[in-house]
Amino acid sequence: MKDYKRYTVTTALPYANGPVHIGHLAGVYVPADIYVRYLRSKGVDVMFIGGSDEHGVPITLKARKEGTTPQAIVDRYHSIIKKSFEDFGISFDIYSRTSSKTHAETSSQFFLDLYKKGKFITKTEAQYYDEEAKQFLADRYITGTCPHCGNPKAYGDQCEKCGTSLSAKDLIDPKSAISGNVPVLRETTHWYLPLEDYEPWLREWILEGHKEWKVNVYGQCKSWIDAGLHPRAVTRDLDWGVKVPLEEAKGKVLYVWFDAPIGYISASKDLKGDDWEKYWKSDDTSLIHFIGKDNIVFHCIIFPCMLKAEGSYILPDNVPAFEFLNLEGDKISTSRNWAVWLHEYLLDFPGKQDVLRYVLSANAPETKDNDFTWKDFQTKNNSELVAIFGNLVNRTMVLIKKYFNGIVPAKGELTDVDKETVKGISEVPGKIAESLENFHFRDSLSEMMNLARLGNKYLTETEPWKVYKTDPERVKTVLNISLQICANLAIVAEPFLPFTSAKLYKMLNFGKKVWKDAGSAELIEAGHVLAEPELLFDKIEDSVVEAQIARLQETKRLNELNAPIEISPQKPETTFDDFSKMDLRVGKILEAETVPKANKLLKLLIDTGIDKRTIVSGIAEYYKPEEIIGKSVCVLVNLAPRKLKGVTSNGMILMAQDPKGGLCFVSPVEDFNPGSEIK
Ligand code: MF3
Ligand code: ZN
Repeated sequence: MKDYKRYTVTTALPYANGPVHIGHLAGVYVPADIYVRYLRSKGVDVMFIGGSDEHGVPITLKARKEGTTPQAIVDRYHSIIKKSFEDFGISFDIYSRTSSKTHAETSSQFFLDLYKKGKFITKTEAQYYDEEAKQFLADRYITGTCPHCGNPKAYGDQCEKCGTSLSAKDLIDPKSAISGNVPVLRETTHWYLPLEDYEPWLREWILEGHKEWKVNVYGQCKSWIDAGLHPRAVTRDLDWGVKVPLEEAKGKVLYVWFDAPIGYISASKDLKGDDWEKYWKSDDTSLIHFIGKDNIVFHCIIFPCMLKAEGSYILPDNVPAFEFLNLEGDKISTSRNWAVWLHEYLLDFPGKQDVLRYVLSANAPETKDNDFTWKDFQTKNNSELVAIFGNLVNRTMVLIKKYFNGIVPAKGELTDVDKETVKGISEVPGKIAESLENFHFRDSLSEMMNLARLGNKYLTETEPWKVYKTDPERVKTVLNISLQICANLAIVAEPFLPFTSAKLYKMLNFGKKVWKDAGSAELIEAGHVLAEPELLFDKIEDSVVEAQIARLQETKRLNELNAPIEISPQKPETTFDDFSKMDLRVGKILEAETVPKANKLLKLLIDTGIDKRTIVSGIAEYYKPEEIIGKSVCVLVNLAPRKLKGVTSNGMILMAQDPKGGLCFVSPVEDFNPGSEIK
């Protein structure tokens, strides 16, 4: 870690059109909060910025759908988000919002500066326009079919199915998201930042100068730069957003991705007043952006180009971007309500902020997407927090109370195991710090837990509860050392588990310490009086997580029920000749059995009229063997034999596939003989 005087740590500003969920937390806010709490404990001057991103088309679309104003939408979600972050212990120095006055001033001034410096170009081009709504259709106001993957619901700026970023004119069959109408093309003028001018500089600054950035971040930057950069529009024809401060730009606003990152600066002004500049314009400040992987290009390429164009700002020192967290094996989705919402978690699990913080840090999607499951949540609580951390503290506190009336006993002569343990304690803070400074949050968390493990191992080896009967003096040393481990935990667990750390400080009756105090086995003096022991964590019962799982299953059921039926489009034309090459017959199922190690397949013996033959069919999820014997079905008899899971299949049974997911036989409606030709 270079020697910086201060840190500016930002977290991606969440869109204020919905509450935050565990995906946001795991990928941005929890790691950022751990990092910042660690820096503060080291005594570093750090400014921790958060806020709501309150512009952009999804917000206006939501307002339109609910028959209200964009301001009402952002007011609602801004307060839900702000409160839930606070209750969850995300320790922002300020949680701001981009509909604020400071932000309107700061971002329009920023635009004007670049404008005056001649950093923009303008282009007049035809863009899609909805004649009924009398509006240009920027970004998500337009939908259509993705040219890459065929998703019929791609947006004008991105296809969420294949992740490709698009421009409206790439869409096949474009439609207005307001009226559903086919849009027309109409000319409009916009301001662009010519990113291509920054290419040589970006190569030097990132590709040469920041090889230490995470592989995923560096890789995305490299592929963007290598693919060739293009002018990027920074204005839009919309009425919700920061007005473009130019006479000739009536009815235009700043593009949301232009104004939002400037939100970090506006928030700093609101927080620091006149003192804000040193957090943004001084070389001895380290600027760190915590973001999810979908934000990489904005924070590593576009925003830095804006800062560079302005000229007086520092650039990000690191951009630790995380991958995505899935929920029970499925992608988290706001529209499908497939999420664990923070504000709901806080209601369902009062006082258990640290359990979620722990599980999300342990599963942080650092280098690849990761999965959150309620079972794992329960296991991590019961067999790690309760059984390791809680158990150590509880045993130590209870034994000191029992044997020494809650007064810390003095150490005597140290044995080998004592000395080894004391050495172990001294190594922990350095290991945690090293991992944290390299943004390895999972490793740092396990180093922290290793300290609790060390304590448990020590108690298991020294068995104070047995030794007390014969050698109470020895027990004094053991419990003193074990208590020093608890005191160290209060310090080093604080960034990860702030609520637990606070409880522990209170139980230890211990004034707040800082990072450099950790590592010592002399933190608490003999004779110090402890407060009453309390449980730090309690077990989470099966019924509790089962209720959460049941809720998700219900969500899934409702989603399937409400899913629009998507009929696959007609295939290309075929000829009668091609059709008549297929020999289709009525057949009768004589026998049916399951296929070992293939849970989708059934092995059938079919009377085709021509012969009796084996056909393997992928219907085991829909039919039980015993219920289909004797049924008449349609069979493609001249299909070349194929081997499925080691069984040769001589033909194929025709099935109807419902777009909602069912599968059933296609059978003759009358009882026709096997061998009847189907034409
Ligand atoms: N609202 C954006 C998102 O959720 C993030 C904006 S980050 C900022 O993806 F830098 F632009 F503020
Ligand atoms: Zn696509």
